[in-house]
Amino acid sequence: MNYEAIVNVLADIAKIFITYTVILFVFLFIVLCCYIVVLYVIDRTQKEHTVRRNYPVIGRFRYFFEHLGEFFRQYFFAMDREEMPFNRAQRSWVYRAAKNLDQTVAFGSTRDLRPEGTVMFINSPFPPLTDESLPPKPIRLGDGYCGKPYETSAIVNISGMSFGAISKPAVRALSHGAKAAGCWVNTGEGGLSRYHLEGGCDIVFQIGTGKFGVRDRHGNLSEEKLAGIAQHEAVKMFEIKLSQGAKPGKGGMLPGAKVTAEIAEIRGLEIGQDAISPNRHHELATSEDLLEMIYRVRQITDKPTGFKAVISSSAWLDELFGLIRAKGLEYAPDFITVDSADGGTGAAPMSLMDDVGLTIKESLPMLVDKLDEYQLRDRIKVNASGKLINPTEVAWALCVGTDFVSTARGPMFALGCIQALQCNKNTCPTGITTHDRELQKGLVVENKQKRVAHYIKNLEKEIRIIANSCGLKRPRDFTREHARIVIDTGRSVTLAQLYPSFQGHPPKLTAPLEGESAVNS
Ligand SMILES: Cc1cc2nc3c(=O)[nH]c(=O)nc-3n(C[C@H](O)[C@H](O)[C@H](O)COP(=O)(O)O)c2cc1C
Repeated sequence: MNYEAIVNVLADIAKIFITYTVILFVFLFIVLCCYIVVLYVIDRTQKEHTVRRNYPVIGRFRYFFEHLGEFFRQYFFAMDREEMPFNRAQRSWVYRAAKNLDQTVAFGSTRDLRPEGTVMFINSPFPPLTDESLPPKPIRLGDGYCGKPYETSAIVNISGMSFGAISKPAVRALSHGAKAAGCWVNTGEGGLSRYHLEGGCDIVFQIGTGKFGVRDRHGNLSEEKLAGIAQHEAVKMFEIKLSQGAKPGKGGMLPGAKVTAEIAEIRGLEIGQDAISPNRHHELATSEDLLEMIYRVRQITDKPTGFKAVISSSAWLDELFGLIRAKGLEYAPDFITVDSADGGTGAAPMSLMDDVGLTIKESLPMLVDKLDEYQLRDRIKVNASGKLINPTEVAWALCVGTDFVSTARGPMFALGCIQALQCNKNTCPTGITTHDRELQKGLVVENKQKRVAHYIKNLEKEIRIIANSCGLKRPRDFTREHARIVIDTGRSVTLAQLYPSFQGHPPKLTAPLEGESAVNS
């Protein structure tokens, strides 16, 4: 075949290809037009959606763009300090800390330092030299009240997120990361899994209202199982969960479909049985019940025992602490975790998330002051949680008087969370709150465990930098004199002025205060 013949054959093929492409295109165009006509008729005649009825076909794009907006707003439109729950500046700090990248920023602060509520730390003219800076002092919990008290130097710890709410690789990465960082991981209410134990970190076992992992067949606390959990060397403390900031007074349910053989075994359920957390522990209806339960759990486990709650009422603290004074310090919790109303969750009703409970900005000073008032500050340690994911927030909490902070969403960002707000679906794009194995593939444990450890370590490092700048050698030396807060006049006052510690007379007690013989009796 000569050259001309080859060209002719190729030209024929091209002609056929173009003809069929045009036919296909025209056919698809007709199909598309028909489809649009059908959609038009459906939209015009349906009675459920106003926008689609008034603007047939194009009204449908609204849902699509609304959906895309969730993902793209943060990249194109939101300013650095604008988004909720966490803005880009807060998230970026965590991402950089987790990747162990340079955490310095250039040119000047993008934070507006004028609005009411802005916290500023009071620098010292003569900060300690870098080589005079010291690590945090260790704290001992439960000393003198149980056989196995717990000592830790960690300030920042990983807050409860159950295996079930978060995925297997997420739990594994948190466990290894916490071990490397030297902090504890709280199991959340879903029980203790081998993935929590895998990294060898310290563990706080949470007793949720469903008592998963420590329940008998009827859903009551099984002393035998509780003792079994306490046998684990890694389990250092027990936390009775009364409530959580994002949903005070609400339980939860993991649908039976998600209760796999593994989750069923960990939680003490049948495969496929709905994992229901009641909205309250059945046996805890009064403060007296709570103290009895704390005492009982500590007796069985021989380890420090505390509780987690959203605290909104100083009257309740008066009742509880008065009762501790009356019954004796052996009934006191070894720690109280106070969770903020704006805390995170896998899923909760919006009204509880938005409108019920106090934020940590109010509840933490209230709790610390009440402990002071009842002279329980040494006996009961405080652990604060709720958007304390960056150094300044943690330093504020230390100034107010917390001993520890816990964070859930900070480590989630370190695991790669992009705040897609999908935790209540099975579609988390970063594999953290999904059981979809395909999506979990993106979460590589070996890599993410390092990020969790870097995040916690860099957070503690920068808290220490703030402390040093305030003239303190150690971060736990912060007091309310070390921070000022902008008030409604536009000027700032020290936290000590805003929250003056208790200075009045102790209330009438039936048992003497520590170091006193017969106060008010
Ligand atoms: C996905 C997810 C699951 C959670 N599961 C629990 C839980 O099982 N028990 C609990 O007490 N708190 C749970 N929390 C709340 C956190 O432990 C924490 O109290 C709250 O998110 C505030 O901390 P943060 O602002 O650092 O996230 C969960 C939070 C998230 C985001």
